[in-house]
Amino acid sequence: MSLNVCEHPLARHLLTQLRNVETTPDRFRHAARQLSEILLLDATADLRLREVEVQTPVEPCTDAALDQGLAVVPVLRAGLSMLESALQLFPDVAVGYIGLERNENTAIAHSYYCKLPKLPGRMTLCLDPMLATGGSAVQAIHVLKANGADQIKMVSVIAAPEGVAALQEAHPEVPIFTASLDRELNDKKYIMPGLGDFGDRLFGTL
Ligand code: PRP
Ligand code: URA
Repeated sequence: MSLNVCEHPLARHLLTQLRNVETTPDRFRHAARQLSEILLLDATADLRLREVEVQTPVEPCTDAALDQGLAVVPVLRAGLSMLESALQLFPDVAVGYIGLERNENTAIAHSYYCKLPKLPGRMTLCLDPMLATGGSAVQAIHVLKANGADQIKMVSVIAAPEGVAALQEAHPEVPIFTASLDRELNDKKYIMPGLGDFGDRLFGTL
């Protein structure tokens, strides 16, 4: 499995805004959307193309059009922060939802919702901004596979080494696209230095 850490300077700039405890929910959502666009472009760089003929104002030429179905599956609720960017970039994308919530004491995620489009043959992007213990991502990808997904990528704003290792062990063929590989988890299983609770900062539920 490959771990792809985005090197774009704008990605670092936006991530710093997300980390900043002073960033308001409004500004947080805006930066999350922008950063998601960059990560989504990285993750979809190998989408299949087909040749098409096109008439420019000057002459006919052969160029390319997208030729592969795409599905995005945000993990509720923080993954919703990445959905609008996917819809902006790929208006024809099929959207599914998986609802998972970590138990605050055990950090084990339990599933409360699942609604998926047809996944076989589509590039399927699992969207969850925080890859902490990896429990949520491992579970979500298990569900995607059980529903026929055959090309899955994980897109996360921040990944912890523990989460990367867990995902690597459970789903070794799934590449991870992230803006940062952070240092470690603390004893409450929060990413350090991280950005705190993504969902709470996004929705102002602190
Ligand atoms: C957060 C985050 C991930 C999960 C990551 O969700 O959005 O889904 O934790 O942690 P893990 O890698 O240890 O599983 P949370 O359960 O807090 O739910 P929320 O998005 O509804 O706030
Ligand atoms: N979920 C979050 O929102 N933040 C973390 O640091 C870990 C899990």
